Amino acid sequence: MEQEAASRELPGPTGWALLRTLALFLHGDLLSPFERLFDSFGPVFRLQLPLGHDLVMLAHPDAVEHVLRSKQENYVKGSVYDGARLLLGNGLVTSEGSYWQSQRALANPAFRPSKLEQYLVAMTDCTRQLVSSWERGAGPGKIDAQEAMTRLTMAIVGRTLFGLDLDQQSDRAREGFDTALSAIGRRGPANLQVPLWLPTPGNLRFRKALRDLDTIVYDIIGDFRSGQAEGADQTLLGAYLTARNPDSGEGMSDQQLRDEVITLYLAGHETTASLLTWALYWLGRRPDIAEQVTAEIDAEIPSDSPSMEELKKLPHTSRFINEILRLYPPAWTIARNAVEEDRVLGYRIPAGAIVMLSPYLAHRWGQVWPDPSRFDPDRFAPDVARDRHPFAYFPFSLGSRICIGMQFSLMEARLVLALILRRFRVQGLSGPEVRCVAAGTLRPDRPIRIELVRRRGG
Ligand code: HEM
Repeated sequence: MEQEAASRELPGPTGWALLRTLALFLHGDLLSPFERLFDSFGPVFRLQLPLGHDLVMLAHPDAVEHVLRSKQENYVKGSVYDGARLLLGNGLVTSEGSYWQSQRALANPAFRPSKLEQYLVAMTDCTRQLVSSWERGAGPGKIDAQEAMTRLTMAIVGRTLFGLDLDQQSDRAREGFDTALSAIGRRGPANLQVPLWLPTPGNLRFRKALRDLDTIVYDIIGDFRSGQAEGADQTLLGAYLTARNPDSGEGMSDQQLRDEVITLYLAGHETTASLLTWALYWLGRRPDIAEQVTAEIDAEIPSDSPSMEELKKLPHTSRFINEILRLYPPAWTIARNAVEEDRVLGYRIPAGAIVMLSPYLAHRWGQVWPDPSRFDPDRFAPDVARDRHPFAYFPFSLGSRICIGMQFSLMEARLVLALILRRFRVQGLSGPEVRCVAAGTLRPDRPIRIELVRRRGG
């Protein structure tokens, strides 16, 4: 397909349709305009942004494979990540080239299976604390799922990667990340906003959030240095602090440390919290699936301290989690800049274009996913999944920049669901379906309040 002689021009809106789409973006809503364009033009389209920026959306598996694997050297995290860099600096998500390679090599050992097994103890501890607090409550009542899951996943990152209890900071950090992520989201992929130094109300809020987060992150590093971390030399932060550049012999600067810590703090909690929030929601909406998952957990998880081996024996729970990540991939888009002009599926990709790969759209393409909006974990049964294109499903991205925390978060999600469902059932949720909005990650458009009903005693 890619060998066609002449390049086709990418389809996309023009004239009034283009202006209407841009006006919707200015409203801050990125998801629904992209969904409309996807419905009109299919999985490959182009959008001309103001100031000559070209945006190309690719949600076709062949195109995803092209960008993330076959021709990955042409697609970089260039200026399209400038908005994220305001928050994350030059950490593992935003850096590139040889610097990224050496930082990734430094972080990789912290995500090996033997380390995950160690983290399981802290993960279990944090989750048990939450579940016991619900048990002690006078009937847990309604819980804001996003808030509860964010608090939990933040605590887990603190204990596992930094060896610290971050409970005290968690409200301030949550507020800071929320403000910063929505400010970055509003800037959009072309980072189209007034410069950060201009004192607009939005900029002032964003700058305050960045200052607050910096204080939190430097406190984390300070607490760690002053010996407050548990098992310090076993943590990722410990590895960063002792790392030396093989050529210069120098350690990481405070700024480098800050960028890596804030990156892991954010990437390590926000996405998994989103996954767990939607999981609780669907357990309430689909009692049949909840029953199947709970029965599997009852059969395979005999105690409140499951082992890695036991957590691996949960095929229905894993399919359920995969289906959540199909419909609600927390990183709903993965963006790159095209370095040189290229051709994908016969279409011309201009040099410098912003190329967006959207798991959210790709996972809803009817040609790959029959009846795409139906919630159906059995799409991931081995005999159904076998013939699917290997780049059709990519909630954690694929290729060399695949998420470093993929196994960490999948283990965490199985564990958290197991420990909750051993004690509680999610009360049925009816009413209109909650929709999602793109706010940094994919979030519910209104709070998801769930009611947990006690299953059995301690
Ligand atoms: C459901 C959970 C998660 C999802 C859906 C997710 C998704 C992603 C995606 C799509 C990327 C690629 C971004 C890009 O290339 O533009 C990524 C990268 C990354 N993720 Fe995750 N992530 C999750 C959990 C985690 C966790 C738990 C951690 C850390 C503990 C983490 C740390 C990172 C880091 C550091 C990168 C950058 C990796 C690199 O480029 O070397 N993520 N993640």
